[in-house]
Amino acid sequence: MKIVLAITGASGSIYGMRAYDLLASEKSIELSTIVSKGALAVAKAEGIALPPFGGNVHEETDFSAAFASGSNAPDAMLVAPCSLKTLSAIANGYCDNLVSRSAEVCIKEGKKLVLVIRETPLSPIALENMLKLSRIGVIILPASPGFYSKPKSVNDIADFIVGKSFDSLGVKNSLFKRWQTWQRK
Ligand SMILES: Cc1cc2nc3c(=O)[nH]c(=O)nc-3n(C[C@H](O)[C@H](O)[C@H](O)COP(=O)(O)O)c2cc1C
Repeated sequence: MKIVLAITGASGSIYGMRAYDLLASEKSIELSTIVSKGALAVAKAEGIALPPFGGNVHEETDFSAAFASGSNAPDAMLVAPCSLKTLSAIANGYCDNLVSRSAEVCIKEGKKLVLVIRETPLSPIALENMLKLSRIGVIILPASPGFYSKPKSVNDIADFIVGKSFDSLGVKNSLFKRWQTWQRK
């Protein structure tokens, strides 16, 4: 399975970092990663040291990446975290970097696209952009963790969101405790 992971400049690069660790270690997955300039700026501002993403990693200006062409579309793309700027670019077909171009390719080729949006509160503009994409099959997955899995660490909280995004992508995982009726007791 060919997957593109894009990390953009919303707060919470931990989502992208956890997704990278897990996808890169899965032998059946051919992973390509894009780290936007915004992601680098936010990680710096938040004091997060992004790892040296290995393998097939691209800057946002690299339109020559194979998956930027519909003739070599990935099977799925995950944007985690996804900023409102990238959401807007995707919703409006404004392909000014490799993230929005790859998302456009996924949409036009009928491939899975999952956006882990991070912002609060949400403006009518952001809500309209999300609704527009949801109506054409893009999965809008807000970074809004559930607590029924009883997380014990920040990693557990991040893994809830990453696990849900993997469910949407079709990547099997046991990253979070799923709800069982016995948990009501
Ligand atoms: C410290 C910091 C935190 C930010 N957090 C968010 C956020 O949570 N959500 C968001 O939509 N934008 C956030 N932004 C703004 C984006 O980084 C900015 O709109 C940027 O242009 C996004 O570019 P990209 O989507 O190409 O990475 C933040 C910026 C900074 C400096």
